[in-house]
Amino acid sequence: MLSEKLVAKLNEQLNYEFYSSHLYLSMAAYCAGENLDGFANFFLVQAEEEKFHGMKFFHFIDDKDATIRFSGFEDPSAKYQSVLHVFEEALKHEKFVTKNIYALMELATEEKEYATISFLNWFVDEQVEEESMFNNLIQKIKAAASDPSALLLLDMELAKRTFTPPAADTTN
Ligand code: FEO
Repeated sequence: MLSEKLVAKLNEQLNYEFYSSHLYLSMAAYCAGENLDGFANFFLVQAEEEKFHGMKFFHFIDDKDATIRFSGFEDPSAKYQSVLHVFEEALKHEKFVTKNIYALMELATEEKEYATISFLNWFVDEQVEEESMFNNLIQKIKAAASDPSALLLLDMELAKRTFTPPAADTTN
């Protein structure tokens, strides 16, 4: 049985994941408003991924026979100054999420909750990929700053992104 403290933290992370989805929808909206439909598509797919992450917490909490609790979250509609600013904010957000996953892992380790540790390992790896993806895109956007055609090429590339849930997670 999970401790109350661990259940509260797992629910907190569930809500952060759904907040992330909401945040990325707001970033998609900004990009769409700038007529960068490929960048908008990138964030729409990212929003789907975050919903998928949130649902992984949903199923895990339920499988452990604990109570799932949803909470409201803050308005994510920040004023973005440029597409580069959007990606920098996204990376900042992912670093925040990584910190929270680590804190959750520390608590699960302290409590010797091995099922939760195993569950969280997927998120530890996922955060490495997500931070790396945003870092790479920031570098590409910076490189395209002096060349508008390079930004349009990147926009076309990001238009091709699709959401594919990992095959190993079909049970969740
Ligand atoms: Fe669910 Fe982007 O972390």
